[in-house]
Amino acid sequence: MKNTPSLPKDLLSLVFYLLIVNLSMQPMLNIAVRAARSAGELILRSADNIGRLSIDQKGKNDYASEVDRMAEREIINIIKAAYPEHSILAEESGEHKGNDFVWVIDPLDGTTNFLHGFPQYAVSIALKYKGKLEVGVVYDPLRDELFTAKRGGGAMLNNRRLRVTNQNSLKGALLGTGFPFKTDKHLDAYVGMFRALTTECAGIRRAGSAALDLAYVAAGRLDGYWEIGIMEWDMAAGILLIKEAGGVATDFSFNDKYMESGNVIVGSPKMHQLMYQFIEPHVTDNLK
Ligand code: IPD
Ligand code: CA
Ligand code: CA
Repeated sequence: MKNTPSLPKDLLSLVFYLLIVNLSMQPMLNIAVRAARSAGELILRSADNIGRLSIDQKGKNDYASEVDRMAEREIINIIKAAYPEHSILAEESGEHKGNDFVWVIDPLDGTTNFLHGFPQYAVSIALKYKGKLEVGVVYDPLRDELFTAKRGGGAMLNNRRLRVTNQNSLKGALLGTGFPFKTDKHLDAYVGMFRALTTECAGIRRAGSAALDLAYVAAGRLDGYWEIGIMEWDMAAGILLIKEAGGVATDFSFNDKYMESGNVIVGSPKMHQLMYQFIEPHVTDNLK
């Protein structure tokens, strides 16, 4: 598909439009799945050799191993073989310029977990067309769980259709989060948010892979999630999964600039609204 048609005005044409867009994205979803599975296999093969891997420190508490780089190369090779003219934004190798299709890749989300043998990490691949998310895949190689979404086509876990939870109060809710571990700049604000929420809900989990946290919200395993300062490759696929599972995502100003700010709150519309009430009083100007 070279160009996505512009949005029609009447209902029948809208249904037709969604069908066309949906069908036309299937080959790209297939490529994303093939790339994610292949990278997942490579990651699993390397999991027995963790002690022998070469590891770089990219920044404070920010690591990449040769597995991150090999998995990314594998993904890019598969995408480039199918779509040589597409652009790429990948965590380890950065931008590869091409046309208006942009593949957003985190080859191994949860590197710190992986390097410690802590079994929670994933491959995350999304495709944007002219800035809009069209396809998202999060693959957990340890559990062989494949989360997929196409814009307008719903979200799936393997062959099962996903839906965010019906939870309508914080009481009893299970939330996910990420700690701001790379800098203490927003630590006070974060601790304020955490303190406000932690006694309101049944539990808060910090599992260490933002991509899987988001996929778990889409799958109804978490009722909501928030984090400060994550990157586009951490969240692109997961955000589409959540939207296609009936959830919502905003930044800390209740807007949709989360990709730019890296600050994100997600959940069902109800859970998002409830979480926002407790988070908002701790949002500093720098986090807006
Ligand atoms: C990290 C994980 C972690 C989140 C960090 C991310 P990486 O990604 O998603 O859960 O808290 O903000 O950087 O470095 O393992 O790909
Ligand atoms: Ca990541
Ligand atoms: Ca990564």
